[in-house]
Amino acid sequence: MKELTLLGGARLSGEIGVHGSKNAALPILFSCLLFSEPVELANLPDITDVSAALSLLSSLGVKIVRKGRGRVLLDPSSACSDGCDLSLSGSLRGSLYLLGATCRRFPGLTVPRPGGCNFGARPIDLHLSVFRAMGLTVSESEEGVSVRGRPKGARFHFPTVSVGATVNAILSAVLADGRTVLTGAAREPHVLDLIAFLRAAGARISLPAPGAVVIDGVPRLYGVRHRVCPDMIEAGTYLLFTMATGGEITLRAIPPGELACLLPLLAGMGARIGTGVDSLCLARTGKLRPVSLTTAPYPGFPTDLQPQMTALACLADGESVIADPIFPTRFGYVSELRKMGAKIAVADGRAVVSGGSRLTGRNVTAPDLRAGAALTLAALAAEGESRILRFDRIERGYAALTRNLAALGASVTLSDGGA
Ligand code: EPZ
Repeated sequence: MKELTLLGGARLSGEIGVHGSKNAALPILFSCLLFSEPVELANLPDITDVSAALSLLSSLGVKIVRKGRGRVLLDPSSACSDGCDLSLSGSLRGSLYLLGATCRRFPGLTVPRPGGCNFGARPIDLHLSVFRAMGLTVSESEEGVSVRGRPKGARFHFPTVSVGATVNAILSAVLADGRTVLTGAAREPHVLDLIAFLRAAGARISLPAPGAVVIDGVPRLYGVRHRVCPDMIEAGTYLLFTMATGGEITLRAIPPGELACLLPLLAGMGARIGTGVDSLCLARTGKLRPVSLTTAPYPGFPTDLQPQMTALACLADGESVIADPIFPTRFGYVSELRKMGAKIAVADGRAVVSGGSRLTGRNVTAPDLRAGAALTLAALAAEGESRILRFDRIERGYAALTRNLAALGASVTLSDGGA
């Protein structure tokens, strides 16, 4: 397993380019199975979740031609589910999208219950409800979940905003018979990027109001080229790293509007922020002030930045309160932060952070992707050396993280760390 050795104390300073969005790349990759002709994707992030998705597609007979950094040609014309090996999908939450993407092509394909980041319950009831609403027969077994039937347009309201269930509803509806009307749907930039991709391929999708998606089924989709949108969570993570070290950073290829949920909070904590059309610069000025926030679906504060913000709050001059009603048990990493000297109390999906901590470098283990980013932030600000074990879990979602940190002035060494 990989581990990162990091000597804390350096002020991060410099400029980096934001990579393509993991959470846009995954639905767009799996949606290629809706096509009968090739699609070309650019700006795919070089992360292990994308490699895993490409392996799954290859096992389903999709021909994959790599055409340079982050660019692939996917030809699904001879895709076939016979003999496919979906055992890999257990590690990937996004593999659930195979159900929506193949319900017409491979009816009854059994997809193992998804894995992904393990920070508590990850139910799939909304995915199954929307499949049933579209007239599909859902079967659940030890092996996993399958859907059968010919999807028909339906009206469906999401009682809880769900990125994944919204994606599966869209994938099932684009080739369905008739009109599907979704309300209470997710509006994250990565969901809108999937919609833009499908529209460019001939799908008939409109967004009449916030959270509303209207899809008129079409007989087929046409091959297109698409550049995956930038990763707002990667961008936000680097801004938080910079705040933690008192440095300054310029991010290229990120529309600042996508971080409207974060920037005012950072300004309130003591950041000076400048914005361009698709660039952002941030510098921390003076002491770090505390913060209070509650995560919410986009355009609210993203749960995927909650761990990193909680770690930053440890350094603030005063008490912070961070609530995560989306994933109330997404605080498993706090025990690792406490090893470094953090003073955090967690109860009922809320972290109360005492702040004013002087963190000390320690050996810590990344429980999952964003928690690993939180531990990396703490190590950057800590006194002395930290070793972050299971760094492989962080590499699932952050391309070139070690290279970027070194370029920004951090003292980092990545090793295989033995077995
Ligand atoms: C996606 O997960 C992301 N993963 C997550 O990012 C992200 O944290 C999450 O959306 C929220 O933004 C990918 O895109 C691959 P949800 P997803 O369905 O789709 C409840 C990362 O770090 N819910 O939007 O699984 C659920 O419990 C990962 O990149 C149901 O109740 O999340 C939660 O409270 C971690 N029933 C809320 O909805 C369901 O069937 C939002 O979850 C599905 C979800």
